[in-house]
Amino acid sequence: MSLVKIFVGTMYGGALDVAEQVQPLFENAGYDVVVFDQPTLADLLDTPTELALFCTSTTGSGDFPGNLTAMLHDLQKMSPSLVGLRYGLIALGDSSYVDSFCGAGRALDELLQGFGAQRLGERLEIDAMETFMADDVAIPWVESWIVDQQLSVA
Ligand SMILES: Cc1cc2nc3c(=O)[nH]c(=O)nc-3n(C[C@H](O)[C@H](O)[C@H](O)COP(=O)(O)O)c2cc1C
Repeated sequence: MSLVKIFVGTMYGGALDVAEQVQPLFENAGYDVVVFDQPTLADLLDTPTELALFCTSTTGSGDFPGNLTAMLHDLQKMSPSLVGLRYGLIALGDSSYVDSFCGAGRALDELLQGFGAQRLGERLEIDAMETFMADDVAIPWVESWIVDQQLSVA
């Protein structure tokens, strides 16, 4: 069965909630789904990963949530090729942090592409100033993403 891995970067659980809410959408599309809330580089490189969804908030001033830093540190240290990885990216942020809005999601996107991964579609940026429940935006976005990118294997 096809596998999609969901990698979560979160401080307060909002991005993890989004991951858990969209998980059934992938299952309905015919995928096995694994959600990583303490992801390691091995989680990304093993198998290897062909399809992934990254779902991360931003903390500090455009910084990565703490639970992502080990994986990203190792990624930069090992510089593996991510050619063959296709991914989507959901960034949670708050536009009151004007200069660093969704900074972690944007930086992660750049990092992944720098190692050869291919983003499918546009990055989704969810602004806490506009959206109280991130799921309300994330669920329809993932539904469309699965259709638009012809990901369904069911
Ligand atoms: C201390 C702190 C720093 C933050 N810094 C940023 C930031 O630099 N840029 C941004 O877009 N959002 C920032 N945010 C907003 C969070 O990314 C946003 O509230 C997000 O929905 C939190 O998701 P989480 O529960 O998964 O951590 C910050 C929030 C806090 C509490």
